[in-house]
Amino acid sequence: MDIKKLISQMTLEEKAGLCSGLDFWHTKPVERLGVPATMVSDGPHGLRKQDDKADHLGVNESIKAVCFPAACATAASFDVDMIRGMGEAIGDSCQHEKLSVVLGPAVNIKRSPLCGRNFEYFSEDPFLAGKMSASYINGVQSRNVGTSIKHFAANSQEHRRMSSSSDADERTLREIYFPAFEISVKESQPWTVMCSYNRINGTYASENKWLLSDVLRDEWGFEGYVMSDWGATADRVKGIVAGMDLEMPSSGGVNDRKIVEAVKAGKLDEADLDKCVERILNIVFRYTENAKPDTPWDMEAQHALSADIAAQCMVLLKNEGGILPLKREDDIAFIGEFAAKPRYQGGGSSHINAFKTTSAVEAAQGLNVTYVQGYSAADDSASDAQIAEAVSAARAARVAVVFAGLPDAYESEGYDRKHMRLPDCQNKLIEAVADVNPNTVVVLHNGSPVEMPWIDRVQAVLEAYLGGQAVGLATVRVLFGDVNPSGHLAETFPKKLSDNPSFLYYGGEGNRTEYREGVFVGYRYYDKKDMDVLFPFGHGLSYTCFEYSNLRLSADAIKDTDTLTATVTVKNTGDRTGKAVPQLYVAAPECDLIRPVRELKGFAKVELEPGESKDVSFTLDKRSFAYWNEALHDWHVLTGEYAIQVGASSRDLPLCAKVCVTGTVDVPRHYDVNSIFMDILADPKAAEIMKPFIASATAAFNPPEEEKSDAATEAISDEMGMAMLNYMPLRTALSFSAGQVSEEQIMALLDAINK
Ligand code: BGC
Repeated sequence: MDIKKLISQMTLEEKAGLCSGLDFWHTKPVERLGVPATMVSDGPHGLRKQDDKADHLGVNESIKAVCFPAACATAASFDVDMIRGMGEAIGDSCQHEKLSVVLGPAVNIKRSPLCGRNFEYFSEDPFLAGKMSASYINGVQSRNVGTSIKHFAANSQEHRRMSSSSDADERTLREIYFPAFEISVKESQPWTVMCSYNRINGTYASENKWLLSDVLRDEWGFEGYVMSDWGATADRVKGIVAGMDLEMPSSGGVNDRKIVEAVKAGKLDEADLDKCVERILNIVFRYTENAKPDTPWDMEAQHALSADIAAQCMVLLKNEGGILPLKREDDIAFIGEFAAKPRYQGGGSSHINAFKTTSAVEAAQGLNVTYVQGYSAADDSASDAQIAEAVSAARAARVAVVFAGLPDAYESEGYDRKHMRLPDCQNKLIEAVADVNPNTVVVLHNGSPVEMPWIDRVQAVLEAYLGGQAVGLATVRVLFGDVNPSGHLAETFPKKLSDNPSFLYYGGEGNRTEYREGVFVGYRYYDKKDMDVLFPFGHGLSYTCFEYSNLRLSADAIKDTDTLTATVTVKNTGDRTGKAVPQLYVAAPECDLIRPVRELKGFAKVELEPGESKDVSFTLDKRSFAYWNEALHDWHVLTGEYAIQVGASSRDLPLCAKVCVTGTVDVPRHYDVNSIFMDILADPKAAEIMKPFIASATAAFNPPEEEKSDAATEAISDEMGMAMLNYMPLRTALSFSAGQVSEEQIMALLDAINK
């Protein structure tokens, strides 16, 4: 299709019209020119295709589909191949259902456990979120349907989500809130990007030219179209200039007319409009020219796939005395409504009309498992009778497995959680069961961290997250050891909410939320504070044991333009096949810059049979060592010795190797009379010029040795003199040089060092 020619045949009104939706889910057709309407649907962990009554909050029924595990779960797999497979399956169903774009993945950073949509997001870590997202996108798009990575950007709360401004410095945006999008654009070129509802530093994402054009397109190379989140368009004309191509759903024609008027009034360059139209049409035709509506959609096969995936995501948080896996011959009590009615997805626009579910109770048929309800999730209560029934079932069983978690109303799109606790009735139930059965296991269904006041009283905890429609099957397989758990936490579980770095400022004041913790999100904060956490980022147990050894680097010194390979040997030292998740963190050298202790820069998932060893290699490049330098307005590597740490979690890093990295880019410096000696002397070239000047500059309090009185020697040592000098601005030479330094000399010196 010759898109440019097509655009030349379109009227201004047709072009403006194309830049908003036909209805809730379709782009507009231009019939006279053969431009078809195309359909988009949520997303991300399955299809929410609505046929008639449309809404964007998951209120009205959509077609029957397969609900895969949500991103909170899939991120914990640390398995890029697995999530690619899930993407392929979703891509096939899109082809079958004639959908051009699935609205996801959602990659916003988990700044606080309170965000109502955390269950839809991958991680507190941008590298992990980016790698999982890129792989999902590659999977979906391998089927010739598009994705819409969302919500760009800094959309980490639901509170006042359509008006709030996320105010953060550029380094924080670049290092924490952008990289998941950046990695995805660079590694998987999503067909579309969905801009967020919120403002960023005062400007709505939907009209933010810096965000949507300068960064997304010019810097990262994004080629597709940007669509608004549903209702995120404020000033439509500004949006066109910013590069926000498609308004969804639509403004009933109001904004289309504003576009036309602005062009006619000479306030909007028609060329800007043409660019938006071209980007939309490119994707419309990329889909229609590759549509394969006869692609089969085998829902039963996808149900089975979703069970396999869910099992790979579960995180075994605790397993005292190897209580898990359970033995088939054991008498087991399943306690808690979620065992029979699993909570397997969150509320809002990602809510899928699952064609079937498998609960743990159903999956355990044929085993010695009894079930009691324990609590009622809908009215969030546990009666005395329910607790008494649970206690007697627990007493009669060798192992009591309590299925707990957050009821639907606790976390959803549209509002935030109010606290980090499980329902009180469930905590009470767990305590009551643990009182009578020393072999108590807790299975959790939740989309983000919860406090565990009973943690020392139970033997095991299995975090099953919101594991999709087959989560019950997956849970039983993991509990009974058919699948060896291999998930690792993609987020820290703090001990209590107030430990979280955003605690003081989360939600903000009115329409302004300051991201005051800066880059110290998640483990970047807990590690810097050396704080005890309930479970650290990256943590996850297995029914076997792994040993990490022999970390070697391809070089002990590199430039920031080189790559470095780190290789580690992982061995299964236990007696079961299992999957290890080696994680590589980079620790920057001590320096003036305030940086996290360590940052995740590599991870892998490897299956090992008992006794088997494998080498795993990671490639590190400039970005593995860099921070965002606001003066350079670019990534920068400080010269120094970096530690490469490898192990099984952010707090279990037995291996360390050092590499000297030389930064090849100098940060431009400019000195003036207020520059302090320490900063000037830290710059080797300036220090050289400065040397002859130092003694005279400090003559008043630092006379030559032979002239010093005994009292002076006692009062101020050379070291102290030097320390005082450090923080002195250059101009103070006039005051402290005992008349030896003139203003002209200072200016001449500045000239020389600034050259
Ligand atoms: C959500 C998006 C979703 C859209 C369409 C919005 O409310 O924020 O994630 O894709 O609705 O349902």
